[in-house]
Amino acid sequence: MDKTYYSRFTRQALLLIASIALLAGCELPPNKTAQWGFRGTGMVDVEHPATMQANFAANQVPEGIPAADPSGPRASQVYKNVQVLGDLSAGQFTRVMLSISNWVAPQQGCAYCHNLANFADDSLYTKVVARKMLQMTRHINSDWKTHVQGTGVTCYTCHRGNPVPAYVWFKDEGPRTAMGYLGNRMGVGSPKPSMGNSSLPFDPFTNYLDNKENIRMAATTALPTGEDRQSIKQTEWTYALMMHFSKSLGVNCTFCHNTRAFADWKQSTPERSVAWYGIRMVRDLNNDYMKPLTEVFPAHRLGPTGDVAKTYCATCHQGVYKPLYGVSMARDYPELQGPSPSVVVAPAAKDSSEESSPKKNKKSRSNASAKLEAEIGSAAKTAAN
Ligand code: HEC
Ligand code: HEC
Ligand code: HEC
Ligand code: HEC
Repeated sequence: MDKTYYSRFTRQALLLIASIALLAGCELPPNKTAQWGFRGTGMVDVEHPATMQANFAANQVPEGIPAADPSGPRASQVYKNVQVLGDLSAGQFTRVMLSISNWVAPQQGCAYCHNLANFADDSLYTKVVARKMLQMTRHINSDWKTHVQGTGVTCYTCHRGNPVPAYVWFKDEGPRTAMGYLGNRMGVGSPKPSMGNSSLPFDPFTNYLDNKENIRMAATTALPTGEDRQSIKQTEWTYALMMHFSKSLGVNCTFCHNTRAFADWKQSTPERSVAWYGIRMVRDLNNDYMKPLTEVFPAHRLGPTGDVAKTYCATCHQGVYKPLYGVSMARDYPELQGPSPSVVVAPAAKDSSEESSPKKNKKSRSNASAKLEAEIGSAAKTAAN
């Protein structure tokens, strides 16, 4: 083989490999589309059958343990060191212990949280974390119905058989770069899967899902008034968060917005209001449940800046518009509903200008969810064939 031919051959092969690599990020046709708004309004959802089937397989509910007798002496009377589940019967208590072992530590079992010589002992950090998690789960189910409705959550919603949920986030200061002005990436240019690999800011979570920065940036008047101080930079941060929403729920922007007027609540779907409460819920979970555990976790569980793992939309949703396609596990676990659902008004309901809650659309189910449900049905059929 002569040398020029050889090098031309290598070059072509390299080009081919490069173009395959470039296309690897694209989804091969056929994509399916569903229209759920008036024609011409761009209210369309694009789905890929292969992604839908993978999501379908990953979001099945595991078999549960039969209900336990709620009567008899309380766990607080039977055991020595029960601080959260004291209101349960001994049978219910045991059911919870067996279930959380299956949901969080199926390989390790009771020993993941317990000193097997003394179950009342709190020396393992995992037990201390699990106690807080029990409180958090009850809090979500009883106080955040504005988001989780009657569907609710169990440990499985986030953990799916893993001690550390597959989708958590840490504060991200970005890759190390040269010192000074040249090295400052302004928080962009380091694509991550949690934002659909876009080159948008890579940590919108610290600002919006830990701190309570204002997400809205669209101008409300046609001409500048001098009062509108939102910048293009801020817009990029909002879009990064929105990419995370879409990616986590496996939907397009049109699941929540009419893209001709992103900001307008009247043209948005009811799902956008549910998402609005979701943002407030996630902030609450991170600040009131995750962050107080920072000292409890060993160093290897903390992020590069020493912060605790936190939740975002993907932690529960894991690629689908309702975690586990809206199948309610929590309904079968009254133990995780909380002793007396406190009538806490979500902070969301308190009115203040930019934090004002959107009016809830009266329609209980929108076209969007219904259409998606129909599509999932057909994806499930294809998967079964
Ligand atoms: C994911 C962590 C975790 C796993 C796994 C787990 N437990 Fe527990 N266990 C706890 C927590 C947290 C408490 C305390 C609950 C409270 O304070 O309300 C507890 C308390 C107990 C107690 C009460 C001890 C006392 O006297 O105070 C018993 C008994 C118990 N667990 C048994 C088990 C058994 C049996 C298994 C395995 C089938 C198991 N647990 C698996 C977290 C766990
Ligand atoms: C909203 C999502 C969510 C729910 C619901 C949830 N957890 Fe967690 N859990 C987390 C996150 C986030 C972490 C932190 C990850 C880490 O450990 O680094 C965590 C960590 C833990 C850990 C520590 C694991 C380790 O090895 O460090 C235990 C144990 C645990 N959870 C038990 C439970 C139990 C039991 C329940 C149900 C009563 C539950 N979780 C419900 C999100 C959740
Ligand atoms: C799951 C629902 C949901 C999805 C999907 C979603 N958004 Fe949003 N979006 C919201 C919510 C809720 C707000 C308002 C947040 C707030 O007020 O705190 C918002 C706000 C916005 C804003 C700011 C509007 C204003 O008032 O300034 C823009 C722009 C936006 N989204 C664009 C997008 C884009 C682009 C996508 C797709 C990549 C997208 N959104 C996907 C729910 C969603
Ligand atoms: C603690 C778990 C959890 C977290 C975290 C979470 N969600 Fe949800 N979400 C749920 C559950 C459960 C439902 C189903 C409620 C129902 O049955 O209507 C749901 C429903 C929704 C819906 C309505 C879907 C439909 O078809 O009606 C939207 C939109 C949504 N979530 C957006 C978000 C966004 C955006 C975030 C992040 C800011 C988020 N969620 C975080 C648990 C969670």
